[in-house]
Amino acid sequence: MLDTLDRLPEDPLLGVMAAFRRDTDPRKVDLGVGVYKTETGDTPIPAAIAIAMQRSAGTQKTKVYIGQGGNERFNQAMLELALGADHAVVKDGRAAALQAPGGCGALRLGAELVRMARPDACVHLSDPTWVNHVPLLGNAGLKMAAYPYLDRATGGVKVAAMLAYLETLPAGDVVLLHGCCHNPSGADLAHADWDAVAEVLARRGLVPFVDIAYQGLGDGLDADAYGARLLAAQLPEVIMAVSCSKNFGLYRERTGAVFVVSPSAERTGVAMSHLRKIARGSYSMPPDHGAELVALVYEDATLRAQWMAELESMRLRIAELRGLLVTGLHALRPEVDYRFVQRQKGMFSLLPLDGPRIQRLRDEYHLYMPGDGRINVAGISRRNVESVAQSLAAVI
Ligand SMILES: Cc1ncc(COP(=O)(O)O)c(C=O)c1O
Repeated sequence: MLDTLDRLPEDPLLGVMAAFRRDTDPRKVDLGVGVYKTETGDTPIPAAIAIAMQRSAGTQKTKVYIGQGGNERFNQAMLELALGADHAVVKDGRAAALQAPGGCGALRLGAELVRMARPDACVHLSDPTWVNHVPLLGNAGLKMAAYPYLDRATGGVKVAAMLAYLETLPAGDVVLLHGCCHNPSGADLAHADWDAVAEVLARRGLVPFVDIAYQGLGDGLDADAYGARLLAAQLPEVIMAVSCSKNFGLYRERTGAVFVVSPSAERTGVAMSHLRKIARGSYSMPPDHGAELVALVYEDATLRAQWMAELESMRLRIAELRGLLVTGLHALRPEVDYRFVQRQKGMFSLLPLDGPRIQRLRDEYHLYMPGDGRINVAGISRRNVESVAQSLAAVI
């Protein structure tokens, strides 16, 4: 049977990673992989999480199944972090969370829920969007389309074109929005833009599906949740996928949650019963370790403050590197305007470089990025930012 299968091409990002590993030049820099890195190129376990790991190892007495919804203390923590403990939908039970295997698992559960509720719904993704959105949502059987988003001339968002596109959609369609720190572009909606998007979505009966995987790495924990909180307050139904991979450093622990907001606690309960069934039929129950660590950090005021301070230092480091890169490039090529990199948020920016230039960066300058020109700004350091700027300046 399996001999009917043809080999699939390698994920292009894995190819870039392999080429980086093979490169023996000491100047090599990897801006490809989408994980946070420190000044020394490491992706450490946050100190608050490391303390929680010790506590959990000392106190957990069983590994017996925890239940279909996952860790309920974690689910509550996620609702409070993303939507705010005082948000009306959290207080009156109109929002509920189901622990999922990472943000990817949450996206897939949300997509399956949409297909159950409305099999003919189309999900509209930003142009461009994170490459994995396409299989995560499309493989659930949903139709997909793209809305105008990134303005490649300015590095900002084409807000007017996006709003005009949303005006044309039929009620019941789903719009996938990056809650903050857009991947791959770093171009985010301003608060006023979110207000306008919320108004059109509400008026046209569209359902927002918010993917928030980088909360805290853009403008701060609360500011980054502005759009998600606004939509939850103003729209009857919202689906959300949250991830703890980046902001809690829990990548391999697969820690995330899918949220549902609906007009009544009763309707939310009905949707949750479907989510539990979808989860049961795919992987049964989520892993516990990461969720337990997040719950321990969130519930302990000291640990929570420590984690928030660590997250803030990650955010400030990325913002500083954005500034240093733009200053370095400007000094070398003043006629080239790359200031958009400083305006963009989170780990990523999409550089307007074509394939041959990206190849030259790799071959001649040992600077690695995927073929679409997405760079992980956290992969730069104060040590190498000047040489990264020199390499870019040589090919732009
Ligand atoms: C836009 C976006 N959404 C969701 C995720 C989910 O990540 P994970 O499944 O590792 O939590 C990622 C991770 O890279 C992402 O970039």
